[in-house]
Amino acid sequence: MTPSRRHPGLTDRVVVVTGAAGGQGAAEAVLLAREGARVIATDLAVEAPALAGSGVTYRSMDVADEGAWGALAAELAGGPPVRGLVNNAGITHRARLGAVARTDWDRVLAVNVTGAMLGIQALAMRAAQLDLTPLERTGEAEEVAEMVAFLLSDAAAYVTGAEIPVDGGFASSAGAKVLSDRLRDDVVGP
Ligand SMILES: NC(=O)c1ccc[n+]([C@@H]2O[C@H](COP(=O)([O-])OP(=O)(O)OC[C@H]3O[C@@H](n4cnc5c(N)ncnc54)[C@H](O)[C@@H]3O)[C@@H](O)[C@H]2O)c1
Repeated sequence: MTPSRRHPGLTDRVVVVTGAAGGQGAAEAVLLAREGARVIATDLAVEAPALAGSGVTYRSMDVADEGAWGALAAELAGGPPVRGLVNNAGITHRARLGAVARTDWDRVLAVNVTGAMLGIQALAMRAAQLDLTPLERTGEAEEVAEMVAFLLSDAAAYVTGAEIPVDGGFASSAGAKVLSDRLRDDVVGP
């Protein structure tokens, strides 16, 4: 019998949780797995006893290591798309302003800021962006150039202070494409 889920829609979704050998990250990973997600938990530690028996896959890696993200992305490529990334890994370093060492400052930024960006960059696939773009393709540089030329021309002499997105409907659709695609799939199939 399928266990009851408190958070529908997570079944079989691939989710990566960083900083998940313990603390909040481990709690998030275990809950997501219990709700049916396929969870890959990462942290610095070689092993994560807190995740034992939870069904979570554990991988040791440093979020500030771009190569490690590349390796994880390569490993996941070809499988189901990654549907979620929880950038939970984080560190703090407390010191009086005058005593902050540059190495400590750099490490906090590398983990808390760069690490999150690297994860998004490695895992968040172009496909997710296109899911939200009604015209279902990325824009061409020439298409942006056309708008720039128009705005600078006499044809736009009375246009001022306007923001004109050249984004295939991404901004104006406000996520409606994903919803309508899902409704269509539910009614007529993918
Ligand atoms: N607990 C709180 O009150 C609180 C408040 C505000 C923010 N946060 C943030 O929420 C997150 C989770 O909090 P927590 O209390 O569970 O913290 P925690 O310190 O127990 O857990 C953070 C985890 O991140 C891991 N980590 C650190 N650097 C890493 C790196 N370079 N690569 C991979 N993993 C790394 C650590 O090993 C640790 O397991 C942290 O980012 C923390 O800064 C927590």
